[in-house]
Amino acid sequence: MATEPALARFEAVLATHLPADNTTPARLHAAMRYAVLAGGKRIRPQLVYAAGELCRESNIAVLDSAAVAVELIHAFSLVHDDLPAMDDDSLRRGRPTVHVAFDEATAILAGDALQALAFHVLALAPIDAAIRISLITTLAEAAGSLGMCGGQQLDMDATMSKDQAPFSTELGSDALFGLRQMHGLKTGALIRASVRMGALIGTANNDLLAQLDGFAHDLGLAFQIRDDILDVESYAGQLGKTAGKDAAQNKATYVSVLGLERSKELLTGLSEKMRAALAPLDARADGLRGVADFAITRDR
Ligand code: IPE
Ligand code: IPE
Ligand code: MG
Ligand code: MG
Ligand code: MG
Repeated sequence: MATEPALARFEAVLATHLPADNTTPARLHAAMRYAVLAGGKRIRPQLVYAAGELCRESNIAVLDSAAVAVELIHAFSLVHDDLPAMDDDSLRRGRPTVHVAFDEATAILAGDALQALAFHVLALAPIDAAIRISLITTLAEAAGSLGMCGGQQLDMDATMSKDQAPFSTELGSDALFGLRQMHGLKTGALIRASVRMGALIGTANNDLLAQLDGFAHDLGLAFQIRDDILDVESYAGQLGKTAGKDAAQNKATYVSVLGLERSKELLTGLSEKMRAALAPLDARADGLRGVADFAITRDR
């Protein structure tokens, strides 16, 4: 995991990309800053920097652009995920969710504007145009209907079909296949994009990009399985968000489909797989190793 000074530095960089609270329309900008600067774990930015470090990338300004962009998309996804039409959550990062602290219309618009801002930041990244376009393409694919938004749709579909086995309508009767697909998209896509963007900035070759993508795929799945477990085993004071929501809302999760013990076994298996994927890489992959360990053992 990143050091305190590195995280503090990132918080400062992030803040510079958001219009001031008093910029018109002040309510919208206040909501955007509230959503982004409210103290998340910053896992996705850490992955951008760690993948860049692996590739000996020293252009910190460009890594910053990608790290900020993916965190803005992530913050947008959380604001919309918490809306009454979706998970209807009132607590996020230890504070009232954006639609509770402001109002629903402002929360929808703040999410929309954060998404646009993410691509604006990437479009201005101080790097060769070909790489800049590959960063924009990577993040757009990961955020859209074939990535995060698509995964959120599968999540909502599975939640709505209470009388059916999860995923039975669209994805066949294999609930595990459906779960892997849903988690891979709603959470995995942005995690994969984070690693890929860091590696693209570091001009990794195709072999390394593919190797890292396999690792990031497992990391995304592990991160969401841990999220499902924490929803059952933890409490709001620790999580900064309401616990027990998945069962209350009849969500399709690894815990609801496989149970706690098998979900934990799967996590152990993914941890070993991630370790093996990084084994051929030297100490420069330690940043990625740190995030992988954190994803498996985290308690918030
Ligand atoms: C929460 O993500 C939503 C999931 C994809 C599981 P994080 O656990 O990274 O949330 P923050 O950014 O630290 O609040
Ligand atoms: C959210 O998954 C994934 C995205 C926001 C894309 P969850 O709904 O499980 O996330 P939490 O538990 O609310 O953070
Ligand atoms: Mg959700
Ligand atoms: Mg949610
Ligand atoms: Mg969750």
